[in-house]
Order: sequence, then structure tokens, then C-alpha cells
Amino acid sequence: MTQDEAKRLVGRRAAELVEDGMIVGLGTGTTATLFIHELAARKLKIRCVASSDASHDLAARLGMRMESLKELPELDLYIDGADEVCLSAGGGIGTGIVVGLDLIKGGGGALLREKIVASAAKEFVVVADSTKLVPVLGKFPLPVEVIKMALPLVEPKLAALGFTPKLRMSKDGGIYLTDEGNYILDCWSTGIAEPESTAAEIRSIVGVVEHGLFLGMATMALVGGEDGVREFRA
Ligand code: A5P
Repeated sequence: MTQDEAKRLVGRRAAELVEDGMIVGLGTGTTATLFIHELAARKLKIRCVASSDASHDLAARLGMRMESLKELPELDLYIDGADEVCLSAGGGIGTGIVVGLDLIKGGGGALLREKIVASAAKEFVVVADSTKLVPVLGKFPLPVEVIKMALPLVEPKLAALGFTPKLRMSKDGGIYLTDEGNYILDCWSTGIAEPESTAAEIRSIVGVVEHGLFLGMATMALVGGEDGVREFRA
């Protein structure tokens, strides 16, 4: 099975979790895009909020009813992809019950709105292909969203935490800007052994808007691979 097939599989399974009448958060990225297509095809009576302009525009084009957190401050369900998924065993990973479900997100640049929308949802289901499963977070560079003027101050502070920060560029060669007009520093490391304390340290740097560590926010993971879709509940 290719990575794209696995993403499509979890996208379809996630769309099946949605029921008529629900208020649904739509994530961002290639897996979330596949989910949005599957969900639109079901033609349910639902109201949605998206975590990026790109997902908002796609869903609206597909005929979905799009609103904002102003109208819908509480969501039943948020479904989104991730760059890394770290499961720590509860009853044992084989049982599908996990104690920890921690993520790195923001590879697509939407981490701030993703975290906002996720925080408004009763359930956050992360959809990923099995290549995203890691024993320790941090092989994928951690995206950190930074206010432009603070960049020269934030960069050395992230370096002092042991990261190698790299300013994200866009495909056209300019500096990448988020939907909120901020910069992203992709922070390389050899692994984030203590994600909770690292998250707190990054958060305490003035000028950091948000970081891509989503710790204990997801309530379920759908992981697609050779065995089909595996479900893990936190
Ligand atoms: C978007 O900012 C990200 O958080 C994505 O959810 C994440 O990068 C996963 O993207 P893919 O589904 O494209 O791998």
C-alpha cells in the first residue's frame, strides 16, 4: 500500500465518524484534504469550521457549509493530520488503548489555527499513515510560529534550547507567511525527550505565537497501513 492509499483509507474512515447535525472542525494538509473530499461526498447536514484558508476554500467549493468560531465556538469533532504521532502504551499498544497521544503538527504551516480549532473540539481525531508513528517526537523539525519583529530574539533562544532553527521559505523563494502573517522557524533536533517541559520552555519565549507540539490534545488516532486502519484511543 502506498502512503497516499493509506492516507485515503484513514480519510474515508474519519469521514464515517461524522453524523448528521454535527459541528465539525476540518484540518489542513494532504490527509485532511482527502478527508474533506470523503466528507463532502457524504452530503451530510453538518456545519464546519476550517483550520486554514486552504481547507475553508476547498470545503466551500465542495458545497459544505462553512462558518467561523464566532458562530460555532464549540465543535463536536475535529479531524486533522499530523507530521509525527507518538503513542505511549496504556493497556499496551496492541489493545488500542494508549495513555499518551502526542503529535507534531504544522508541516503545512497551519499549526496556530489548528491548535485553536482543536482546543474548541470535544473530540480530536488525528488521521495519519503509519510512517508518521514515532517512538520519540522530533525527527520531524518542530514548527514554531513567530511574530516577524521578534525573529532575531526568538532564534537564539530556540538555539539555546538545543534546536537548530531554520526560517521557512515558500516555494517561490520568499519567506513563508502563515495565514496570520507570521514567520515559521522549523526547529531541528536529535529528538524531543521531554515534550512537556520543552513545550513550556518554547511557550515562555516572548514573540513565539505557537509551537507544533500537540500534547494530550488528540482523543483518538486512526493510523493507516498494510493492516488497514488501526484505532488508538487515549
Ligand atoms: C498542517 O499545518 C499540518 O499540521 C498537517 O496536518 C500535517 O503537516 C500533516 O500533513 P499531511 O497530512 O500532508 O502529511
